[in-house]
Amino acid sequence: MTIFYPGTRRKMSSKDLYKPANRNIGFDKNVWVEFTALARDYKAVNLGQGFPDMPPPHFVKEALGRVAASSDFAVNQYTRSQGHPRLVNALGKLYTQLMKRAIDPLSEILVTGGAYESLYCSFLGLVDPGDEVILIEPYFDCYVPQISVAGGIPKFVPLRAKENATSTKDWILDKDELEAAFSEKTRAIVINTPHNPIGKVFSMEELQLIADLCKKYNVICISDEVYEWLVYGGEQHLRIATLPGMWERTITVGSAGKTFSITGWKLGWSIGPKELIKNLQTTQAQITYNLATPTQEALAQAFEHEIPLIDTEKSYFTGLRSMLERKRDVMAKLLTEVGFKPVIPQGGYFMMADTSGIDVNFDEYDKSDDPPDYKFVRWLTKEKGIAAIPPSAFYSLEHKYMGAKYIRFCFIKEDSTLESGAKKLKEWKAELGK
Ligand SMILES: Cc1ncc(COP(=O)(O)O)c(C=O)c1O
Repeated sequence: MTIFYPGTRRKMSSKDLYKPANRNIGFDKNVWVEFTALARDYKAVNLGQGFPDMPPPHFVKEALGRVAASSDFAVNQYTRSQGHPRLVNALGKLYTQLMKRAIDPLSEILVTGGAYESLYCSFLGLVDPGDEVILIEPYFDCYVPQISVAGGIPKFVPLRAKENATSTKDWILDKDELEAAFSEKTRAIVINTPHNPIGKVFSMEELQLIADLCKKYNVICISDEVYEWLVYGGEQHLRIATLPGMWERTITVGSAGKTFSITGWKLGWSIGPKELIKNLQTTQAQITYNLATPTQEALAQAFEHEIPLIDTEKSYFTGLRSMLERKRDVMAKLLTEVGFKPVIPQGGYFMMADTSGIDVNFDEYDKSDDPPDYKFVRWLTKEKGIAAIPPSAFYSLEHKYMGAKYIRFCFIKEDSTLESGAKKLKEWKAELGK
């Protein structure tokens, strides 16, 4: 093992003082940074980035208030590195129900700084330089830099949209293409259901195919399920960890931000067998060591409130689902009226809209070499005051063209925000008609 002491640092010339570490080169451009700033600068109606613009549920706010007022000094001090005891106990209880197996809160759960850090700990804790990690495109954009920092090599398998796809059921995972990506170098596959950006909910058949390949090639499955509560139209969220032979090779990733509409809390978790989770725990202990105690305590109380209500009319998750299904349908109607062809999502809170029916000449407007969806979104934000996200950001270089005729909208927005968006879209439609 090589140990680096401060004295062995290479001598720097003045030229390379500001040089990034090689592992970071190429990752400085980030779709969120550009398009969040653009939305802000142009005061656009933000139908792009995935955060709710409404208050969180009352019981979550009340829990945080109680923690703030608590006279127990311990809620303001360091807590257990792998996760605050009250929170891992609540998560253990919840996922014991969901996974239909007894989850040990101490060894089978890790609490992290959002789902982001769960993913990062999975890659850093389990992937060695040269290991391959299969990603299904489009994929949540942080997977690639995180895998690369670990020295892993992403291998891409695109979902293929049928001609004139109207639902995310029309985005298909090709069996042969998927199997061709597996080899003895494959360490892991990342799946995301319900999916960002398209909103696909993977079927039992698709999960079984992935599970069979994981077992055949002895591969870990990292299952990003941050939108687990958001499925519509009678769809069911299925957990790959519950398929035969999959618990022992799956890390399930969740997010408090998506679960309780509190993205700013940045708390997430990984759940899996202790043999895998311990590697993530080791990694996390080198990054943050432990997360903020007050928010973990409040999140635990929020789960304790919600768990007995799950699947009842009183459940926050039930209400959120029906509210979002209504907003999804409102957004689809609006987009259709202007000439977009929305792809109706089965889950999550994003919607892809096909722009090919809309005639705007971006080349005159935007001389960059960026894909058409980047140009479309810049134009839409600056000229029409509506912010969205370009989905080609969620594809490898080779497959960017697959996302470039779409733009991604987010519908977890107040009705008033959707109405402002509708007003702007209608003004635009009137101009198009002239
Ligand atoms: C698919 C997916 N995974 C992970 C994350 C990160 O979640 P968190 O905010 O909990 O870090 C997001 C956030 O948008 C996401 O869409």
